[in-house]
Amino acid sequence: MAFSKLFGSALVLAQLASSNHVQVEERAETAHSEPFYPSPWMNPKAIGWEDAYVKAKDFVSQMTLLEKVNLTTGVGWQSEQCVGQVGSVPRLGLRGLCLQDSPLGVRFADYVSAFPSGQTVAASFDRSLMYQRGKAMGQEHKDKGVNVMLGPSAGPLGRHPEGGRNWEGFAADPWLTGIGLAETVKGIQDTGVIACAKHFIVNEQEHFRQGGPNVSDAISSNVDDKTMHELYLWPFVDAVRAGVGSFMCSYNQVNNSYACQNSKLLNGILKSELGFQGFVMSDWAAQHSGASSAVAGLDMTMPGDVAFNDGKSYWGTNLTLAVINGTIPEYRLDDMAMRIMAAFFKTGNVIEQPQINFDSWTKDTNGPMHYYAKEGEQQINWHVNVQRDHRNLIRDVAAKSTVLLKNENNALPLKSPKFLAVIGEDAGPNPKGPNGCSDRGCDDGTLAMGWGSGTADFPYLVTPLDALTMKTADDGTRLEHVIDNYAWDSTKTLVSQADVTALVFVNADSGEGYITVDGNEGDRNNLTLWGSGDELIKNVSSLCNNTIVVIHSTGPTVVTEWYDSPNVTAILWAGLPGQESGRSIVDVLYGKVNPAARTPFTWGAKREDYGTDIIYEPNNGAGAPQQDFTEGVMIDYRYFDYKNITPIFEFGFGLSYTTFEYSNIKVEKSGAGEYNPTTGSTTEAPTFGNFSTDLTDYAFPSESFPYIPYYIYPYLNTTSSAAEASQDPDYGQTAADPLPRPAPAASDEPGGNRQLWDVMQTVTATVTNTGSLVGDEVPQLYVALGGPSDPPVQLRGFDRMRIEPGQSAEFRATLTRRDLSNWDVASQNWVISDHPKTVYVGPSSRKLVLSAPLEL
Ligand code: NOJ
Repeated sequence: MAFSKLFGSALVLAQLASSNHVQVEERAETAHSEPFYPSPWMNPKAIGWEDAYVKAKDFVSQMTLLEKVNLTTGVGWQSEQCVGQVGSVPRLGLRGLCLQDSPLGVRFADYVSAFPSGQTVAASFDRSLMYQRGKAMGQEHKDKGVNVMLGPSAGPLGRHPEGGRNWEGFAADPWLTGIGLAETVKGIQDTGVIACAKHFIVNEQEHFRQGGPNVSDAISSNVDDKTMHELYLWPFVDAVRAGVGSFMCSYNQVNNSYACQNSKLLNGILKSELGFQGFVMSDWAAQHSGASSAVAGLDMTMPGDVAFNDGKSYWGTNLTLAVINGTIPEYRLDDMAMRIMAAFFKTGNVIEQPQINFDSWTKDTNGPMHYYAKEGEQQINWHVNVQRDHRNLIRDVAAKSTVLLKNENNALPLKSPKFLAVIGEDAGPNPKGPNGCSDRGCDDGTLAMGWGSGTADFPYLVTPLDALTMKTADDGTRLEHVIDNYAWDSTKTLVSQADVTALVFVNADSGEGYITVDGNEGDRNNLTLWGSGDELIKNVSSLCNNTIVVIHSTGPTVVTEWYDSPNVTAILWAGLPGQESGRSIVDVLYGKVNPAARTPFTWGAKREDYGTDIIYEPNNGAGAPQQDFTEGVMIDYRYFDYKNITPIFEFGFGLSYTTFEYSNIKVEKSGAGEYNPTTGSTTEAPTFGNFSTDLTDYAFPSESFPYIPYYIYPYLNTTSSAAEASQDPDYGQTAADPLPRPAPAASDEPGGNRQLWDVMQTVTATVTNTGSLVGDEVPQLYVALGGPSDPPVQLRGFDRMRIEPGQSAEFRATLTRRDLSNWDVASQNWVISDHPKTVYVGPSSRKLVLSAPLEL
């Protein structure tokens, strides 16, 4: 099997340079993904995994075949307490591992916190806040008995501004997302909970992610190898390097091969090139085959059943049979179990685990342990309060992630205003309560998280109106509100009065595709504000010359028609702030927190300016819709820069109540040596233990426990013949070959060749606070790699620094070999091109006030 095949080679996406335009040839034939077998087995010497390997080996060596299968296969949807749970190994004292959403808190649980979204914390450009948020979420999962937290997310990355789940991840930039992912992983795993990097990969839209009513298969994201490495894979590399214990493969196909059985992706890129040592679980019902997915590198199937509650599984019984009859080699099952247990031990766990003290399916104290089967009546909820003092962190993160997009006439911060008119439904409560819509599947009242599985129940929600009311009551300010976007007469009466400052709250929502809200099937249908928000702003600002707009949203909206009105004096983007929404916006409005956050995506003047779009309608007849990523690496600001399109607010932009100046850029070359491709090969695959081929050894042990309907077991239903295993023809004989394999040139440690992290350059600059208030500044470093198919600039560094008025501070950032390299498709390795390179430093992607050539 060739190791250096192009990824999706039939998709001719050679990027041809022309004057100021990336041309990518159209799909010449149907994109396909090259095979990559066998599935790599764990490396006992992988850095950071050595102890975990030893402990896992000791444990797995004691396991029977049935127990190993039980560890890899979910017990079925709603068969136990967590959204995903694998079978237990009672003989060795291990209870079933609990896998629980979400990337912003513990889903389906009481007495938990609702954190700001990933996209929101990305705007803080603050590594420490990203870490602290991850750690706090990890603690809450831990305290509830969760073993694997199903987050953070870096897929979608944000190819489409309308992408329904962009808010669950971080930024429309791989470098910032990579930092967000890595810091969150470290935070979560420092609490003993295994993090899960998802959704792997190019899961950029909700429409057709699982097929659809009129199409046979899930959408195929057709991506070339260079784009994959330089853009979509990038943040996942950072997660692997940070030691992430698990990955979730996505619903979509990648180059017409399902992500959960795409051997090039799982075996080739993730486990071989990146040396990922943890386990890969399927997204829920994203598995489409038994043996094929096993040999392609899938390690755990979730939630275990083929379709929710059908009582069938590709694995479970079928995996047991497939190993016994040799369809799946023993080393592969052993490797699955090793990877799961190694992730478990790596995060500091011991076999005896605290009990799971909540139930995803009901808040009743007592009820059926096996919810779907309605069996096993007992206590299932202990109502443990796990919030600690996380409310303070949540408030702090949300305030420090609020982006000040416009501020004229010193409209902000507010200084004892005489009269505030609070306008807009987004200022107030959902009449049904903050959790009134299941999985937040509505947009009523203030928007503090999107919808779908990426949610947690609010323990309470401080609305902007609540917090402003308390503040104005303390200050003796008059406050009146109209929180009905369509009550124009009342609004008009209010905002036409003398001395009024109008605070208009608006939003735009999105979420996961299984819920449709106001006609939006996950992805947004457009980039306008919801509830006629744009009209509301225009109407209010036509009467009030001090109109301050606060936007809660899951991404950019088109603000073209009103943003530059002189009567719109200030605009804030507050993202999805979580439970402390109101208090955090008050902190910013009144200057308790001096804003410094930066927009983690571009605000275009019109939708078409982004150059990409969701596929809303089938485009391949009844076959899988085909989404060709013809723009290559040019998404978001890279595309705007490349096409010379002026955005309204560029990526990385955000104001402060004080001002900063930049000076004195210096670039210093480090003495990094030559880059050496990794050579050599892996060892032969080990196996851990033997198994019997006597089928009676695998029968259901009806004496020891009762059969639960719909529950997925590893046992055989019949012991008559091993031939009943599904002989899956979809993979070649190489799948079974456990011999040493050549190591990819770009591989080495978890994350890749260690020399990719050699520091090549150190860049410093002076940042001075030239205003009169203390404030944070976010200097950003961008590089131009200089090639015709490189983005004009790409983010490669940032810091968030507190600077006193009149004082200066030194911004310092390093550039690694990886930061300066391109992915070379031919050599399947990273190379630094000969094109002249430039480094830039400034306060946003378009205010690059300092620059210097890079001497390599
Ligand atoms: C499907 C979603 O895509 C995924 O993010 C989530 O973790 C699982 N469902 C489990 O709820």
